[in-house]
Amino acid sequence: MSTTLIFGGSGKVARHLTKLLSAEPGATVYSIIRNPAQEAELKELGASPIIQSVEDALVTEITATIEHTQPDAIVWSAGAGGGSAERTKAVDHEGAVKVFDAFAAATTGKPKRFVMVSAVDVRDRESKPTPDWYKPEDVKRSEAAWKAIGTYYKAKLAADKDLVSQNGKRGLDYTILRPGSLSTELGTGKVRAGKVGMQGEIPREDVAGAILACLRNKDTIGLAFDLLGPGEGDLTISEAIAKVGKNKEDTFEGYH
Ligand SMILES: NC(=O)c1ccc[n+]([C@@H]2O[C@H](COP(=O)([O-])OP(=O)(O)OC[C@H]3O[C@@H](n4cnc5c(N)ncnc54)[C@H](OP(=O)(O)O)[C@@H]3O)[C@@H](O)[C@H]2O)c1
Repeated sequence: MSTTLIFGGSGKVARHLTKLLSAEPGATVYSIIRNPAQEAELKELGASPIIQSVEDALVTEITATIEHTQPDAIVWSAGAGGGSAERTKAVDHEGAVKVFDAFAAATTGKPKRFVMVSAVDVRDRESKPTPDWYKPEDVKRSEAAWKAIGTYYKAKLAADKDLVSQNGKRGLDYTILRPGSLSTELGTGKVRAGKVGMQGEIPREDVAGAILACLRNKDTIGLAFDLLGPGEGDLTISEAIAKVGKNKEDTFEGYH
């Protein structure tokens, strides 16, 4: 029996995750959405929707939601989805930080397990080195991606940096998952995880599978790592996540 609270519950990754979680006996999935029109569809997937916008809600209101739902884990899979710079900051950065603070403040009497869906290549490109495992094609892709959606990366960086650097006071059992470009292809059940570069895409269904694998694997607590679709050295999702957890592979440490 487990209770999961998903922020961005109506999103494409979150819907896959809702299906996976709801299939488990005794599971409860609470889904934070901002649009009441999505309620019926989410209920059909097995979620209990709660209407709350992370842009508008106060930290105390989010804390109240967490205390009401008593989650064993919270998943952040929300995002402004390429909206204006203002909304990107309000959701991807400030909305996420509100949730970190709200979870820290909430009284749940349980470990505070938190999985953050971030993105590959979220890093401080101005004052930190290029990751030493990047190949020339990764460097090229990074440059193009930051040129195209730099505002998004900066918002994600600010949120992830806050999560990692302020955790001494918050005490969340976090894992930051950093997928590459997401596709709507069917899941393959296989991923590459850890220091895997930036090439290729990953189906959203497999990102959902990786979130679930992280929730089930305590070795991933305190880690931030990259995630791509299958390639060389194919591993199943749970094997790939277990490998990263065992080797403590972190692709954010030293780059923010
Ligand atoms: N797209 C990519 O290639 C890519 C790559 C790496 C990582 N990511 C990250 O992966 C995550 C999941 O991606 P996805 O494709 O599943 O995203 P998505 O389908 O765009 O879902 C994001 C969800 O966030 C919700 N949201 C937006 N503003 C909100 C607010 N103020 N309060 C509450 N919820 C709000 C949206 O709700 P509405 O339906 O109401 O708009 C939407 O359902 C995101 O964090 C994204 O940044 C994406």
